[in-house]
Amino acid sequence: MDKIIMKGGHRLEGEVSVSGAKNAALPILASALLADGKSIYRNVPDLADVKTMLKVLGTMGCGTGRLGGAQSDMCEVEVHGPITPEAPYDLVKTMRASVLVLGPLVARFGRARVSMPGGCAIGARPIDQHLKGLKALGADIHLTEGYVEATAKHLTGGTVNFDVITVTGTENVMMAAVLARGRSVLENCAREPEVEELARVLNKMGARIEGAGTSVITIEGVEALKPVEHAILPDRIEAGTLMVAAAITGGDVLIKRVVPEHLEAVILKLRETGCTLTTGNGGIRVRAPQVLHSVDVKTTEHPGFPTDMQAQLMALMTVADGTSVISERIFENRFMHVPELHRMGADITVQGHTAVVKGVRTLSGAPVMATDLRASASLVLAGLRAEGKTDIQRIYHLDRGYERLEQKLSALGADIQRVKA
Ligand code: EPZ
Repeated sequence: MDKIIMKGGHRLEGEVSVSGAKNAALPILASALLADGKSIYRNVPDLADVKTMLKVLGTMGCGTGRLGGAQSDMCEVEVHGPITPEAPYDLVKTMRASVLVLGPLVARFGRARVSMPGGCAIGARPIDQHLKGLKALGADIHLTEGYVEATAKHLTGGTVNFDVITVTGTENVMMAAVLARGRSVLENCAREPEVEELARVLNKMGARIEGAGTSVITIEGVEALKPVEHAILPDRIEAGTLMVAAAITGGDVLIKRVVPEHLEAVILKLRETGCTLTTGNGGIRVRAPQVLHSVDVKTTEHPGFPTDMQAQLMALMTVADGTSVISERIFENRFMHVPELHRMGADITVQGHTAVVKGVRTLSGAPVMATDLRASASLVLAGLRAEGKTDIQRIYHLDRGYERLEQKLSALGADIQRVKA
């Protein structure tokens, strides 16, 4: 297993481009199942999770592949004729977003057998709302031997009111409704940019979706969809992570290929810490102050402060001037980066869903362990600031959501490298 070795104390400067959005690519790749033919996607990040989704589609009998060699950002998914509408446990357990094939399979093929994703490090992460939505559109759902068995002669439009705002739940049900007979109205939907991006792709395929990005999405079912060519939007969480990298090193970095509107809450919060952020021609320039102010944050659904940026902001607050109160209100166990940050000298006290972070003058490098995707990112950020050497083990967690992060940081002046353990 690879690990990252780094030495902190280098100010980051220069320009860096953001890769395509993981959390848009995953549902969009699954949506290829809704049309017969070959769909081509550009700006697809080269990530472990994307590889897993392509593998899931491949095991069903779809033609999948990255075009133009490993470094290319182009992928294709080809669906021809009958496929095996199943997603096996050994793949789903490595990436819960595989559950996103459920809606398209039931809608297009009338049947799906998808392993229950089970929990993960950050929480139980049930899919009851996904199943509630599919049932409301007429699917029969049975849970047997750890699998969801969903069948439907033909889905019919209906009203779905989500009890909980769920990103992939909204996406799964939206993908099912596009081929249902009649109108569907989805209420209390997730408003993330990735939901909007999926709707944009589905409409390019011939779907009739309105309201994506708001909490009420209306869908007129159509007979069939056609394959699509699409370039995926930039990853706002990678962009936010790079912004924090500039802030924590006292740097001055221009982050390119970003949609600032997708990061408003993060931009405002970083300005509160004393950073100067200027947006323009598709980029965000981050200039850090000498001394960072401590700020409080509560994670909420979009457009609030994203839970996927909580660990990164916490790393920043460990060296801010003052005390920061961070409340994680989306997932029940998303503070696993705290014990590792403690090893680097951070002063953090966790009480339930709240972490109280008292800024310290310096962090010290140490051997630490990644536990989940965004926790890994927070350890890299702390390592950029810490005095001395930091080794980060189990960085396969990082590879799930960041494309060549160490290369991007090294190009900005960080002393960081990946080594084969
Ligand atoms: C998506 O996960 C993202 N993943 C997550 O990103 C992100 O953290 C999360 O949304 C919240 O923004 C992808 O888009 C692939 P949810 P998702 O359903 O859809 C509860 C990352 O780091 N819930 O919005 O699985 C759930 O337990 C990953 O890139 C139910 O109770 O999250 C949680 O408390 C991590 N029943 C809350 O809703 C359901 O049926 C939000 O979960 C579904 C969800």
